[in-house]
Amino acid sequence: MLFKAILLLYVLVCLAASQDLSFRYNGFRSANLSLDGIAEITSSGLLRLTNDTRQQKGHAFFPHPVTFKNSNGSVFTFSTTFVFAIVPLIAGVTGQGIAFAIAPTKGLPGSFPSQYLGLFNETNNGNDTNHVVAVELDTVYSYDSKFGDINDNHVGIDINGLRSYESAPAGYYTNSSGRLTNLTLASSQPMQIWVEYDGAKKQLNVTLAPINIGKPSIPLLSVVLDLSPFLRDAMYVGFSSSTASVLTSHYVLGWSYKMNGQAQALDLARLPKLPRIGPKERSKFLTIGVPTISVSVVFILISGLFYFIRRKRKFAEVLEDWELDYGPHRFKYKDLYIATKGFRDKELLGSGGFGMKVFIAEIVSIGRLRHRNLVTLLGYCRRKGELLLVYDYMPNGSLDKYLYDQPRVTLNWSQRFRVIKGVASGLFYLHEEWEQVVIHRDVKASNVLLDGELNGRLGDFGLARLYDHGTDPQTTHIVGTLGYLAPEHARTGKATTKTDVYAFGAFLLEVACGRRPIERREQADDVILLDWVFSFWVRGEILEARDPNLGPNYIPEEVELVLKLGLLCSHSVPEARPSMRQVLQFLEWDIPLPELSLLGLSASGLTFAHPEGFSEFSMNMALSHSSSVAESLLSGAADFLPFFFT
Ligand SMILES: *[C@@H]1O[C@H](CO)[C@@H](O)[C@H](O)[C@H]1NC(C)=O
Ligand SMILES: *[C@@H]1O[C@H](CO)[C@@H](O)[C@H](O)[C@H]1NC(C)=O
Ligand SMILES: *[C@@H]1O[C@H](CO)[C@@H](O)[C@H](O)[C@H]1NC(C)=O
Ligand SMILES: *[C@@H]1O[C@H](CO)[C@@H](O)[C@H](O)[C@H]1NC(C)=O
Ligand SMILES: *[C@@H]1O[C@H](CO)[C@@H](O)[C@H](O)[C@H]1NC(C)=O
Ligand SMILES: *[C@@H]1O[C@H](CO)[C@@H](O)[C@H](O)[C@H]1NC(C)=O
Ligand SMILES: *[C@@H]1O[C@H](CO)[C@@H](O)[C@H](O)[C@H]1NC(C)=O
Ligand SMILES: *[C@@H]1O[C@H](CO)[C@@H](O)[C@H](O)[C@H]1NC(C)=O
Repeated sequence: MLFKAILLLYVLVCLAASQDLSFRYNGFRSANLSLDGIAEITSSGLLRLTNDTRQQKGHAFFPHPVTFKNSNGSVFTFSTTFVFAIVPLIAGVTGQGIAFAIAPTKGLPGSFPSQYLGLFNETNNGNDTNHVVAVELDTVYSYDSKFGDINDNHVGIDINGLRSYESAPAGYYTNSSGRLTNLTLASSQPMQIWVEYDGAKKQLNVTLAPINIGKPSIPLLSVVLDLSPFLRDAMYVGFSSSTASVLTSHYVLGWSYKMNGQAQALDLARLPKLPRIGPKERSKFLTIGVPTISVSVVFILISGLFYFIRRKRKFAEVLEDWELDYGPHRFKYKDLYIATKGFRDKELLGSGGFGMKVFIAEIVSIGRLRHRNLVTLLGYCRRKGELLLVYDYMPNGSLDKYLYDQPRVTLNWSQRFRVIKGVASGLFYLHEEWEQVVIHRDVKASNVLLDGELNGRLGDFGLARLYDHGTDPQTTHIVGTLGYLAPEHARTGKATTKTDVYAFGAFLLEVACGRRPIERREQADDVILLDWVFSFWVRGEILEARDPNLGPNYIPEEVELVLKLGLLCSHSVPEARPSMRQVLQFLEWDIPLPELSLLGLSASGLTFAHPEGFSEFSMNMALSHSSSVAESLLSGAADFLPFFFT
C-alpha cells in the first residue's frame, strides 16, 4: 500500500516535471543554452550555429535534461517550433543544413561535420544504440547512397542515422488550395518549422512554412511512429549544424518548446534580424524597370553578344505574340542603340538560322541565373534576323586584356587567384547548383569579365546550353574556341560538364602563365600552352612556367596548385578530370590534389597510362554527378549556332 502510494507520487512528480517544461525564446539574448563547436549567440540575440568557417560543427542545446517518457515507458506528447535561416556566402552555392535533435547528450561528442550534420559519425551512423531522433533540413545532395538523400533541398525525419525514415522536398501545402508550394531552404530567408508528436496516436508531424504566413494546416511530413524504442527517459533537445567546404552560416532566430501540449507561438515581430548580406546585387536597371533604361543607365551589352547582320531598317522590330510572355526581358532596339551610341563596341560574333522561339525561352531561362561570379544577362532585343543579348556592364572589361600581349596593367597573384576561385565557383553553380545543368561551352579568359572590384565573372552565355540534371546532352554542332576544346568534344560533338572542365583547365594555365592556349608563330610551330607547361612539370620545375609578370610577389604553393590543377583538368580522359565541386575543394585546400604522376599523364598530350593508379580518384568522380547528361530540354534550338568564333 505504502509502496503503491510512493510509486504514484513518483509518477506524479515525473509528470509534473515534464508537464512543467515549456520555454520560449524570441531571440536568444537572455537564453542560457549549452553551446559547443562554433555555435554562438550574437550580440543581436541570434543563435548562430555556424559561421563562415569550413569543416566545423555547432550545437546548441537546452541545458537541462527533458523527461520524455512516463513510468510505463511511452513517450509524451511534445511540440516545438523554431525560426531558422540558412545563409550561404554565395547565393545559390549551399553548404550543409540544420537539424533539430533529441539526443542523449548535449554535445553529440564524436560526431562529424559536413554531411554528418554534427549528429553522427561514420561508425555510429545508423546504429540503434545512438538514441537520436532528429528532423533534418538538408541542403546538400549526398552522392553516397548510404545517406539516401532525395535531393539537395529536403526535410527528413532521422532516427539514429542520416538515412531518413521519411523525407520530402522542402515546401508547404497552402491552406486554400492544398497545393504543395516549393521552398528553398538555403535561401537566406527566415522560415518557420513545427515538429509535433502526439503521444497517444504516436504520430509525428513536421510542417514548414515561409515566415509570417502562419502554420499550414497540412503537415509536410506526417508519420505514425512510436518513438519510445528510440528515446530514453531523459533526453536533451537542441540544434546541430555543420559546414563543409562551401561557406554557409546557420541561424536560429527563435525557439519555442512544450512538453505535453502545444508550444507557445513565437512573437515574430520580436525576433532578431539577420545580418544584411553583401551589397544589393540587383542592377539599377532591374529596379527602375524597362521604360527608363535608355536615359539613366550605363549597363549594356558589349562583351558577348550575338549580333546578326542583315540589317534592313534601322529601328524596326519584330514582336510576336509568344514573346509577350517574356515581357520584362525584351528591350527596345532604339533604346539599346542610343544607350550604346549606335553599337560602337559591337562585336560581330557570327550568324546563322535557328529556332528563335526556343532559343529565346532558353536565353530568358539563362537570364534567371544569379551568381556573383556570373555576368547577369538582362534581356534581349530582337529584330528581323537579329538578336542582341544585353548584359550587365562590367567596367573593367575582360580578363585577357590583363594577361597577354604586353598588358598595360596586369593583375598580381592574389587578384588572379581570387578571379580563378570566383570563376570556379560560378562554373560550379552552372553545373551543379542551378535547377538545370548549364554547360557554358565557352570558358576562356576573354569571356571572364572583371567587375568594379576586380571580381571575375563568367560571361557570354551565348553558347550555353541547358540540360536537365541526370540527362545526356545531344550531339550538336561543335562550338567553342580552339585551344579550349576537349578532345572528345571535337570527336563526338558532345559538350558535357567535363568539356567545360577541360576549358577551365586551359583557362587556369592562361591565368598562371600569362599566355594564350595556342600561340601562333609565323615561322615556327605553334606553341601549345598545355604541352609547354607539361614539359616544365616533367622536368620537375613546374613553377618556372608561371607568368614572369608576376614578379616576386606570389605564393609558390598556390601557383603550383593552379598549374597542376590546370594539367589535371586538361586530362585527355574525361573521367580523369575532376568535377567543378572537386576543383573548388582543391582550390580551397580542402582536399589534396592527387599525385599527378599517378594519373598517367604522358607527354603525348596527357594520355591515360596506368588506370589502376587513380582508381580511387576516378571512383570519387563516378560518384560525382552528371557526367552523364541526356536529352536537352531545349534541343529544339540545336540547329542554331553553327559557327566558331573567337
Ligand atoms: C546556465 O546553465 C548552466 C548549466 O546548466 C549553469 O551552470 C549556469 O548557472 C546557468 N547560468 C544562468 C545565468 O542561468
Ligand atoms: C567563427 O567562429 C569561431 C568560433 O566562435 C571564431 O573563432 C572564428 O573566427 C569565426 N569565423 C568567422 C569567419 O567569423
Ligand atoms: C501508459 O501511459 C499512457 C500515457 O500516460 C497511457 O495512455 C497508457 O494507457 C499507459 N499504458 C499502460 C500499459 O499502462
Ligand atoms: C563516433 O561517435 C561515438 C560516440 O557517439 C564515439 O564513441 C566514436 O569514437 C566515434 N567514432 C569515430 C570514428 O570518431
Ligand atoms: C552499434 O554500436 C555498438 C556500440 O557502439 C556496437 O557494439 C555495435 O556493433 C554497433 N552495431 C552496428 C550494426 O554497427
Ligand atoms: C517542386 O520541387 C519538386 C522536387 O524538387 C519538383 O519536382 C517540382 O517540379 C517543383 N515544383 C515547382 C512548381 O517548381
Ligand atoms: C498530424 O497531421 C495529421 C494530418 O494532418 C493530423 O490529423 C494530426 O492531428 C496531426 N498531429 C499532430 C500531433 O499535429
Ligand atoms: C492555415 O490554417 C491554420 C488552421 O486553420 C491557421 O492556423 C493558419 O494560420 C493558416 N495558415 C495560412 C497560411 O493561412
